[in-house]
Formats: sequence, C-alpha cells, structure tokens
Amino acid sequence: MAALVVVALLLPAAGLEAAHPAAVRGTGGAVSSAAPAATEAGLGILRAGGNAADAAVATALALAVVFPQAGNLGGGGFAVVRFGGEVNALDFRETAPAAASHDMYLDDDGEPRPKASLVGPLAAGVPGSPAGLFELHRKYGRLPWARVVAPAARLARDGFIVNTRLQRSLAASEELLQRFPETAAVWLPGGQPPSAGSVKKLPELAAILEAYGARGAPAITEGPVAAAVELAARRHGGVLRAADLEAYRPVWREPVRFSAYGWQVASMPLPSSGGIIIGETVGMLERLRWEKLPRFGADRSHLLTEVWRRAYADRFLLGDPRTSRASAAQLLAGHWLDVRTAEIRINKATDSERVRAWSRERAEESSETTHLSVMDGDGNAVALTTTLNRSFGCGLLVAGAGFLLNNEMDDFTTAPGHPNSFGLVQGEANSVGPGKRMLSSMSPTVAWSGKQVIVIGSPGGSKIPTATVQVLLNLIVDGDGLQAAVDRARIHHQWMPDLLYSERYAFSPETARALERRGHELRATNKVGEVSAVRGIVAGNMEAAQDPRGPGAAGVVRPAVY
Ligand code: DON
Repeated sequence: MAALVVVALLLPAAGLEAAHPAAVRGTGGAVSSAAPAATEAGLGILRAGGNAADAAVATALALAVVFPQAGNLGGGGFAVVRFGGEVNALDFRETAPAAASHDMYLDDDGEPRPKASLVGPLAAGVPGSPAGLFELHRKYGRLPWARVVAPAARLARDGFIVNTRLQRSLAASEELLQRFPETAAVWLPGGQPPSAGSVKKLPELAAILEAYGARGAPAITEGPVAAAVELAARRHGGVLRAADLEAYRPVWREPVRFSAYGWQVASMPLPSSGGIIIGETVGMLERLRWEKLPRFGADRSHLLTEVWRRAYADRFLLGDPRTSRASAAQLLAGHWLDVRTAEIRINKATDSERVRAWSRERAEESSETTHLSVMDGDGNAVALTTTLNRSFGCGLLVAGAGFLLNNEMDDFTTAPGHPNSFGLVQGEANSVGPGKRMLSSMSPTVAWSGKQVIVIGSPGGSKIPTATVQVLLNLIVDGDGLQAAVDRARIHHQWMPDLLYSERYAFSPETARALERRGHELRATNKVGEVSAVRGIVAGNMEAAQDPRGPGAAGVVRPAVY
C-alpha cells in the first residue's frame, strides 16, 4: 500500500478544492519534492532499507525523468547533508567549459549578445549532476547504486503520466524547444506538447539511466554519451567538449554554519551565495530584535527588506571560491553585521543606489529549479537543490542520450552592469573563466535544535534565499506548524532592482501603504519560491510538507494514524 499521501491531488476528488494540503506525519523516513512520482521513488528506496542519501539520489533522478524543466542529468546542483551529526556540503555545480572566456557573450562593441548565455549549447556549463549524484551515494549511500537508479530508469522505460505543469511548461517553452530538432522530436512530438494525462515514455533516457545504474558516472561522462554531448554542442555552436565532462569533479565543501534563535544552521557555501545571504539575514535580524516586532506589521517587512538589500549588495562581491572577493567568514563576521545593521532606519527605506550605486534594471520571468528534502528513519537528512537554470535549460536535448543541457552560464556576470535573467547585477568576481563555477543562489539548508531537525530549500533563482529564510523564520522564530510555515505569503527584495516584491495577501492594504510611506516601491509577484520541507520532531516522528504553490507531494514511510 503506497504510503505517499498526495493530499493536493486527493482533495479535489473529495470535493474539497478550497482546502489546502496539510503536512504529512509519521515515522520511518520522509520525502518532499516537486513531483509525486519522484517523492514516491524516494519513499520506495527508504522502504527498501535505503538511507537519506539513497532516497535523495533516487528522488533527484526521478525528477530528471518526470520534471525535465529542472530535474536533470545535464545540469548541476548542491546538497547539504547531516549524517549522524556530521554536516557536509556537496558542490556539483556546473563549471565553465575549458574554452570559455571572459567576454564570450559580448559583441565587438562590448554589448551583450541577446540570449547568447541562455539559448543553445553555448549557454551550457559542464554538467555536474552525473558525477555529483554518484558521489553523494558513494560517500553516504547504503543500498547498491543500481538499486538507487532503478526507479528513475523504470519511470523512463515504462512511462509516466504527464501532469498539467509539464504540459503547460512545454507549451510556454515551445519556441525554444522547436529550435532544436533533437529536442522537439522528444518533447514536441507532432509539433505539440504531450497532453496532460497522457503517458510519456523516454526510451533513450531509460537506456542512459540503465547504463548509469550499471557503471556509474563514467557511463555518462566518458565514452559515447560524452561524445554525443560534444557532437550536439558542435552542431549548434557550443564550446562544450567530451574532455570537459571527463575532467569534471564534484567537491565536498565545509557548509556555511551559523546559529540563530537557538538553532544551528548549515547551508550552502560558495559557489552558492545562498548560505551567506541566509546567514547575513538572520544575523542582522537578531541584532535588530526583529522577533519582538508584531508579526504581520510593516516593521517586520521593512526590516527584512532593508536586511536583504544589504545582503544582496554584498552578493556583488561573490563568485567561485577561487576568485570571490569576499568570503562567508568576512560577510558573517560580527563586526560586519554590526556595521550593516547600524545603517538601517526603522522609518525609512534606504535607496539601493546608496547601498551600492548601480543601474536600475529589472527582469522577471517564469523559471524552474527543483528542491527536495529527505530524512530517513535514523534522522539523517539531505537537502538537495538541482537545476538546468531556466526551464528546459538551453533547450538542446542531446540526441541519443535523451537529456537536456543546462543554460547555467547565464549565472555568470556575462555582461558587467547588465542584469542576468533573474535581474541580478553581479560583479567581476563572478566573471566567466575556464573551469570556474558560476555564482548560485541555491540554498539547501539543514537546521537543528535539540532533537528537532529542519530540512529545507526552494527553487526561484534569486528568490531562493529569501523564500528559504522566511519559512525558516516562520518555524524557528514564530513556531508555525510546518505546513503553515510553508504556506504563508512571502516577500522578496534583492537590492537591484530596488523593488519590494510581494505575493498576493502578503500585505494588508494598510501595511502596503505604511511601507510605501517609508520609501519602498512595491511590486506584485506571482510567487516567491516553492519550498519542500521535512522536519524531524522527537522519537523518530517526522513530518513533510510541500508548497501549495506547485503540484509536488510530501510523504512519509509510515503515516501516523489519528
Ligand atoms: O543557481 C542559481 O541560482 C540559478 N541557476 C537557479 C535557477 C532557478 O532557481 C530557476 N528557478 N526557479
């Protein structure tokens, strides 16, 4: 009997569409991810005796099949793990190919070439997922590798049901996907996305996953598959080569660690800015005694905004750890947080140009990344975020291998002074260079206090750290239940553009006016992230929650009976 409780899908059948999902509670392990089939793959591995690392890999690989907008073999990501009290961070972020260069996305006049870092294989970094997921399992996994890969291979071989989100995403990206016949043949058969509810089989991807299950990362990073990647890149003007795939290595890194409100927190270090932004946020909020202010009033939103304005301004200095112009230690140092906090006024917004002068430009589009949170029956935790960057990455599917290549190169500072596709204005520390890792905002995070453990993260590009920290604050400052913490309306500010974004119902009309009076320019946004969260409570009890902003699912191995 499947223990997965897909409340979001069951409610309409019960005639309860207006109600929203509740966290699922139970024992034996928990998974929350952006797709029910992927959550089920992870739970199946836990039931088979797998641990959190096995289940995280199985869930991530299933997402590479059923959620091709973001789940991937041709992209990269990050994971923060806590195993038996040891915390560790795995960086399987893409790198720039060996032939990449500082000005590769500029024309002869030094102006950005439109979409050059977003469309086609020139936009692709060297995929990190094949070696990264293999390494996560090698270090922490318990079941045989082939067993962990099998559920994803089966989904690709036997087929899965196309959900509304996939059908709509394919339709929205039709122009991109039509550019590449290899991609259109798989994802737009007959020129149309497969309809929602139809069964989709991916035989080429199934064969690659089966080989990956049998031989591990070299089945993809060496030999015919790596050659197929090079061929696809050459055919469409890319510089990615088989040798880049073979040379790629994931890296274990020391997580960004800090304490906040009595909790220990471990989050992603460079080359992601996520852990630093979250650490700066809570560090400044504690100094401002933010928790004492009325929960839904203008003061709290104002101070969050002021804090993010500064944390994202500091992000300008960040990049690959080898070239970053600031470190987590510097930006999370007590005296720096004191200096930053001292600039903040309770009754007036700071003009972002004065925090650090820059041009005022903006961008907001739909996008995809995916986060999964897993805990096993022993309380081991994996928070893993992975992406192709934008929906379906650069749009190019590797013929014969069935997977899409990322467009992560757009996360570099491709054109100084110009915002990237998330509106982020970035610095020279994050310029393109061979072998460099592009700066990320992905924020897989694990927090613990006594017996409680929170495993959390989100997609959303530049909004990832702000989405993640708001849910964390709901839990550790305000004591929300897990589902309520995930559900609550969220806000976002990223220094540039100088706009305070808010989801529907985030502000009452009075609060919105009060914020405008202090000098904030408000802007509506459809969503700030899509959080997947798991929480261990006491004595092996745990709960899992998925965000009602998407169609994902949360489940536990043995649901509690009430
Ligand atoms: O690494 C990053 O920060 C981005 N490439 C993440 C992209 C993303 O979250 C897309 N969105 N939902």
